[in-house]
Amino acid sequence: MEKNKQILLVSRPKGTPTIENFKFIETDIKAPADGEVLIRTLYLSVDPYMRGRMSGRKSYVPPYELNEVVQGGVVGEVVESKSGQFKKGDIVLGNLGWQTYSVVSADRIGKIDPDLAPITTALGVLGMTGLTAYFGLLDIGQPKEGETVVVSGAAGAVGMVVGQIAKIKGARVVGIAGSEEKIAYLTEELGFDAAINYKTADNIKEKLQEACPNGVDVYFDNVGGSISDAVLSLINKGARIPLCGQISLYNLEKADVGPRIQTQLLINSALMKGFIVSDYQERFKEGMADLAKWVKDGKIKYKENIIEGFENTVEAFLGLFKGENLGKQLVKVAERSL
Ligand SMILES: NC(=O)c1ccc[n+]([C@@H]2O[C@H](COP(=O)([O-])OP(=O)(O)OC[C@H]3O[C@@H](n4cnc5c(N)ncnc54)[C@H](OP(=O)(O)O)[C@@H]3O)[C@@H](O)[C@H]2O)c1
Repeated sequence: MEKNKQILLVSRPKGTPTIENFKFIETDIKAPADGEVLIRTLYLSVDPYMRGRMSGRKSYVPPYELNEVVQGGVVGEVVESKSGQFKKGDIVLGNLGWQTYSVVSADRIGKIDPDLAPITTALGVLGMTGLTAYFGLLDIGQPKEGETVVVSGAAGAVGMVVGQIAKIKGARVVGIAGSEEKIAYLTEELGFDAAINYKTADNIKEKLQEACPNGVDVYFDNVGGSISDAVLSLINKGARIPLCGQISLYNLEKADVGPRIQTQLLINSALMKGFIVSDYQERFKEGMADLAKWVKDGKIKYKENIIEGFENTVEAFLGLFKGENLGKQLVKVAERSL
């Protein structure tokens, strides 16, 4: 009989997570009770924020419990429903975690219309990462025509969308990413004005100065650390800095100390603001409508890096910290069957 394959977090990573922090188990597939739905996972999402939840530290979301299934975004199909809201074959989105089947209460999932867009986009450009780019850039960054927008982590799920929205708003866009393939994709496929490979640049500040002759008006920060130090040294008066992520610091065992940036913010009357996408929950519909239109009109292109096989989930997650993904990292777990 088919089993439910699950991945548990069994120890809290010290530094960079390893496969030993996780355990693969098989359990019986549960039957749904009244008001519940049984879902087969089709695609699951691996995201950098999950690293934070693997630590025991308090944050904006509670830490993962040890010996529990790792929670995260899933697109799946309903295989059995005991709820009037869903029927067999419906495609749904939910925070269902790293497992091949889930039984959940119907109010924990939402329906996806597979005729509107490929179902994988619900985990990327038309999901959490697209909305993060949209609200961080437009609400905090507020790019204006002719201004210079710099984005780090530019060839990842969020960064790629940030750069393209900034282009729609008429800005000069400069991306920072970690491989020649990524640099070529940003400039040749997505229309970025310039892109810098931080792994091969001898002096990233000099490269940025060349790419941003008029300074930096908006810096969308996905990575933190020394890359952000270099960008922040070039900001203009009135610069805006949406603080989205700090992936270069997530695996550090000791707090990192960099330049003290308050004077730089002060003398430039600059705004740096951290945000979590859920801060904008009440405006998701508005963001989604714009993103869907831009994707449909071809103004935003999206890229997905899809690894096949549930057994490769942990590798896919670890790959985020090695820059293995171009675009949104997903794992394909099963084919749609209904
Ligand atoms: N605030 C929010 O609500 C929110 C929501 C979603 C995501 N985020 C944050 O946004 C950032 C991007 O997330 P994403 O989902 O779009 O991930 P992603 O960019 O698709 O994947 C992570 C990328 O980060 C880069 N990276 C890894 N280690 C790095 C390091 N030490 N220094 C510089 N770059 C490094 C890698 O690309 P390279 O090849 O370029 O190194 C990797 O491909 C993350 O920091 C994430 O935590 C925040």
